[in-house]
Amino acid sequence: MGRKVGDIAIDLLGILRRSPAKYHAIPDIAAKVESRTRIVNDALRGLVVWGYRFEFDSSSRVRFVSAPDSIFPHEIDHHLKTKFIGRNIISYFSLPSTNTLAFNLATEGAPEGTIVIAEKQTEGRGRLGRGWFSPPKLGLWTSIILRPTLPPSELPSLSIVTASALAEALHASLKLDAEIKWPNDCLIDGLKVAGILTELSAELDKANFVVVGVGINVNQSARDFPPHLRGKATSLKLETGSQVNRLETLAAFLLAFEKMYVEFKKSGLRPLLPAIKKRSCLLGKNVRLKQGNKTIIAKAVDISPDGALLVKRRGEVLRVTAGEVTVI
Ligand code: BTN
Repeated sequence: MGRKVGDIAIDLLGILRRSPAKYHAIPDIAAKVESRTRIVNDALRGLVVWGYRFEFDSSSRVRFVSAPDSIFPHEIDHHLKTKFIGRNIISYFSLPSTNTLAFNLATEGAPEGTIVIAEKQTEGRGRLGRGWFSPPKLGLWTSIILRPTLPPSELPSLSIVTASALAEALHASLKLDAEIKWPNDCLIDGLKVAGILTELSAELDKANFVVVGVGINVNQSARDFPPHLRGKATSLKLETGSQVNRLETLAAFLLAFEKMYVEFKKSGLRPLLPAIKKRSCLLGKNVRLKQGNKTIIAKAVDISPDGALLVKRRGEVLRVTAGEVTVI
């Protein structure tokens, strides 16, 4: 009888969700969750405050109606189909950057697959020292802690693996034709819908851990983007024409990611290359490559098994391992 209301609320949700069409008598639920009717009523009220909706019949029996699109750990867990990715969830309303917290937690020993997620980031970080626009509740701002036992030189490829998993997931769950822009972007119709920031802690020949940070624009309307991103960024809502469930999107992405990551750890990038190339928006195109102060124009021709972009310029094939690429 001494259980916490929060734990009872989670059990109660489980019972109601298992048969959403059925009305349940509160005393029956109380018996199932080993608590008292009054505590179950308190738990229900708490769930309503969190955004859950229930319906009562004339005999005060209750049934589940809907869950909020909020990144509560138990709500993420409810949608997850993975084995180890996302099985430890650190969720905040606001963080400076999920990558920064994930990096600190990984340093302290957080297990592989841990995800850090926030409703908003106040200092979201992008590649090349840029910021990442992370408004509250409109996107998915998350970081995954990984502990692959692969040489550090292979690990930057995790960015393209992640972009590919996300593109596959967006296609499978929302029928969107998402494309991968080497090395780490996900685009729809040429506009950026997601970005990936992979950060590595390594010694010379051994990686300690990797943090893969993923920012997905989900439910922004055009006016939600600041002026400097208009015409460059898009959201899943803008592309599908309707509000997108963030939890379903996160679960679809983490499942696709887990499959590709397991394969990557076993056999490297090679077996994943066909899927990556199929969705790559650069191959066969003339591109502008910016590396530091240097800019070159070339044709993107392939992605090599070590993750480099191969470009052709004046008959010569060059390997590109870093930098910014734009289609001309
Ligand atoms: C880029 O395209 O420049 C990469 C953007 C990566 C943004 C994500 S949002 C979650 C995680 N936390 C951060 O601070 N950055 C990454």
